[in-house]
Amino acid sequence: SGTVRVDLSGVEPGQRITVKWRGRPVFVWRRSAAAIEAARAVELDDLADPVDSGRENPNQSGEVPARDENRTADADGEWLIVIGVCTHLGCIPLGQDGSAVGEFGGWFCPCHGSHYDTSGRIRKGPAPRNLDIPPYDLGDDLQLVIG
Ligand code: FES
Repeated sequence: SGTVRVDLSGVEPGQRITVKWRGRPVFVWRRSAAAIEAARAVELDDLADPVDSGRENPNQSGEVPARDENRTADADGEWLIVIGVCTHLGCIPLGQDGSAVGEFGGWFCPCHGSHYDTSGRIRKGPAPRNLDIPPYDLGDDLQLVIG
C-alpha cells in the first residue's frame, strides 16, 4: 500500500532524516529551538506563498495560512515533515545533511536557486510554492505513519 511507518523515537533534537514515500523523499526534521523560533517569527506578509491549500497540506482542512503552527506535526513545532521535492521543477533540495541549507536555514534547491525556510516555505528563487506536506499521523509515541 502507500503507507509508510517510521519510528522517530531515536531521532535527536536537530537531526534530519529522509524517508521514501511513494517514490519521493520525505524530509523529517526534529527542529532545534532556534529553527522553531525562526519559523514562527516570520510574518505572513514576508511569504511568497502565504496560503497552503488542502492539497498542499492535507492534514489541515481546506486553505490555511502558511504559518509554521499550521505546518508542523506537533503543537510545539519540534517535528516538521515535508515532501522533499522542489515545487519549481522537481529537483530534490539540499539541506538534509545540515549543509547547503540556503539563506533561510531550511533547504536550498541547487537546480535554479530556490531557498526554503525552516518551515519549508519558499522565500527566494523561482519555486512558486512552499514544500508540500504529506498526509501523516504522529502519535505521542513518535510512531510516524505517512499516507
Ligand atoms: Fe528547484 Fe528549479 S527545480 S529551483
